Amino acid sequence: MDGVPGSGDAGGAGAPGAVGGGARAAAAEAGRGSVAAVGPAPGPGGAGRRGLPRGVPDAHLVCLVGNMITEEALPTYQSVPNRFEAVRDLTGADATAWARWIRGWSAEENRHGDALSRYMYLSGRVDMHQVDRTVHRLIASGMAMNAARSPYHGFIYVAFQERATAISHGNTARHVSAHGDHALARICGAIMADEKRHEAAYTRIVGKLFEVYPDAAVRALGYMMRRRITMPAALMTDGRDADLYAHYAAAAQQTGVYTASDYRGILEHLIRQWRVEELAAGLSGEGRRARDYVCGLPHKIRRMEEKAHDRAAQAQKKATSIPFSWIFDRPVSVVIP
Ligand SMILES: [Fe+2]
Ligand SMILES: [Fe+2]
Repeated sequence: MDGVPGSGDAGGAGAPGAVGGGARAAAAEAGRGSVAAVGPAPGPGGAGRRGLPRGVPDAHLVCLVGNMITEEALPTYQSVPNRFEAVRDLTGADATAWARWIRGWSAEENRHGDALSRYMYLSGRVDMHQVDRTVHRLIASGMAMNAARSPYHGFIYVAFQERATAISHGNTARHVSAHGDHALARICGAIMADEKRHEAAYTRIVGKLFEVYPDAAVRALGYMMRRRITMPAALMTDGRDADLYAHYAAAAQQTGVYTASDYRGILEHLIRQWRVEELAAGLSGEGRRARDYVCGLPHKIRRMEEKAHDRAAQAQKKATSIPFSWIFDRPVSVVIP
């Protein structure tokens, strides 16, 4: 496999569909200063350290923090491909293309949490102690992705997740731009560009598996979709809110940062990309059943969305006010499904 992610802020010259820029460079430009130049942390109502725009609503801020915390659990994610058979980096410095890819990808992912974290620190609107606490607990808890060692299952998971994060950061970029925070929009846009390149790479890897071993690939896809693609930060906790992830997910649904429709849309996209509906030759009985299940799933999800939408419409009047420790316990109104 060619195309190892770049190691610097130039944005990975060797990566598939490489673009210039990079999240950290965007953050530096947006902040136009250095972390070292700022003073002590402001309190809950304090002004942003560098006079950053304060127009982003708390519901969007909560989504942004949740996205950042997800990115900051990178050690967990680097361990994921290192478990895949035939892919893993056995020594930590293997010269194989797979091992170089894993390390290069991790280096790019590392920029995302860094850039968002520094920006939030400078904004003064986020309780960084509570955020750090949540990151610490999330890394300690790990993640469950329903694919231990198989590269088939694992790359399907990662291809799905890279597109999910690209959508989430892209939506955030649009929202914060609409609320006047153009610097933050540039950071989120740069992260989205990284995620889209990662998505392209992993989608192509899985596409090759579908080409060469279609039966194994479609059975793996069926297996993963029956168990749902879990979110990497599903085990997050801040030590206060026992349902923190559910509340963060509800805020994401409500603000449109990442919704059930996005989940379905990603599946529809991957079905098209991997030509799952067209698979026929060489499929076992199990493979055909997996193909039929996967291809019928978007319709089922759409029906569930419609039912949920009706329930949400009914419950709209009963939105619950949830305090988030990440933003100094300021309450955010969310509809719990
Ligand atoms: Fe990322
Ligand atoms: Fe990524």
